[in-house]
Amino acid sequence: MFIKPSRSLKGEIHIPGDKSISHRSVMFGALADGLTEVTHFLHGADCLSTISCFKQLGVPIENTKDCIRIYGKGLHGLRPSAAILDAGNSGTTIRLLSGILAGQPFASTLTGDASIQKRPMKRIITPLREMGADISGSSGNDCAPLQIGGGRLHGIHYTSPVASAQVKSCVLLAGLYADDTTSVTEPSLSRNHTELMLSSFGAQITSQGTTACICPDPKLTGQKIEVPGDISSAAYFLAAALLVPNSEILIHDVGINPTRDGIIRAAAAMQADITKLNEHTISKEPVCDLLVRSCSLKGTVIEGDIIPALIDEIPILAVMAAFADGTTVIKDAAELKVKESNRIETIVTNLKAMGADITATDDGMIIHGGKPLHHAVIDPRNDHRIAMAFAIASLCAEGGAEIRHAECVNISYPKFYEDLNSLYF
Ligand code: S3P
Repeated sequence: MFIKPSRSLKGEIHIPGDKSISHRSVMFGALADGLTEVTHFLHGADCLSTISCFKQLGVPIENTKDCIRIYGKGLHGLRPSAAILDAGNSGTTIRLLSGILAGQPFASTLTGDASIQKRPMKRIITPLREMGADISGSSGNDCAPLQIGGGRLHGIHYTSPVASAQVKSCVLLAGLYADDTTSVTEPSLSRNHTELMLSSFGAQITSQGTTACICPDPKLTGQKIEVPGDISSAAYFLAAALLVPNSEILIHDVGINPTRDGIIRAAAAMQADITKLNEHTISKEPVCDLLVRSCSLKGTVIEGDIIPALIDEIPILAVMAAFADGTTVIKDAAELKVKESNRIETIVTNLKAMGADITATDDGMIIHGGKPLHHAVIDPRNDHRIAMAFAIASLCAEGGAEIRHAECVNISYPKFYEDLNSLYF
């Protein structure tokens, strides 16, 4: 798809529902007693994979445009799936579902697409085995397809080597089926949607610093959930408004949970012109509107505890850094290598192709901003976040750019190009 340069972007935008929260609403609704109704659900391919897995596990789910209705079966009500469960491209589906399936009295096989089959699953296999789970990678390489035997689990305290909400949530969900309390400590705090939402459903779950702790066998009760707009999707329009001259965009109802708002903090360090309006709470999650105006950005250093709060926004932050004055250093972000693509590689290769001065490092990248970018053919390697980040880079590149396999945005933002087009002024 060709993305043409823009001289000005103006307008208002309603961002689709948060991907992480949408996944969890289906999973926890399935394990609860009674009806869970979810509005502003993200109808992206990843969340649809979660719905289809739970349908296969015997949970009736109605999927209409306006509302998802999950007729929960209770904590012990899942049924074995006749077929292999397919998580598609979704790391959240495969890792969180593994935690749930480890505690069932039946066996399951769980797989996903070519990218998922390369992503590391040892990070969940290790703690689940410590809990007594029977789980292994069926190709003998700690990758999907995963065979999960099911059975009785023990409560553990797990110290995770990575700050990963998928690992944390996997272990906490297995903890629902354990014989004792389960807790997880991570090196830095990762997104806490599991902790917030599970407690709404009635779980006894507490957090202190970087440790979350859950008691087994709660009675979970169906809920009404409104999903906030996804800050990870808002990030592309935030960057577009900042980078394209003479722009002003109002982005409505964006989730600004402090475990996810790193993009706003990093943009502030780059001297971005962003105003938060109408701050309120939806389903325990803080939300606001963001008014963003174009301005000149300065380079910054992005490192340490902020990384998990902006890990999915690093592709678009790298694009912002390429247009900023001065140098931006991104470090402590080796996790980028095990996302939907190796994002250090996909960011650096594609920004270099557009003429940016960028160098890959072992745990991030160094960007000397301010060099004009030019037309290139971008290969996002089927990674939705790379496609969207480079669509925004194209807006400010001489001659625009061509994004190959541009439809991969369907994973998290099916209407992305339509929404972007609506802002050309
Ligand atoms: C997610 C956690 C993050 C994030 C992913 C969604 C989640 O992954 O990158 O897009 O919903 O828990 P990690 O847990 O691997 O950091």
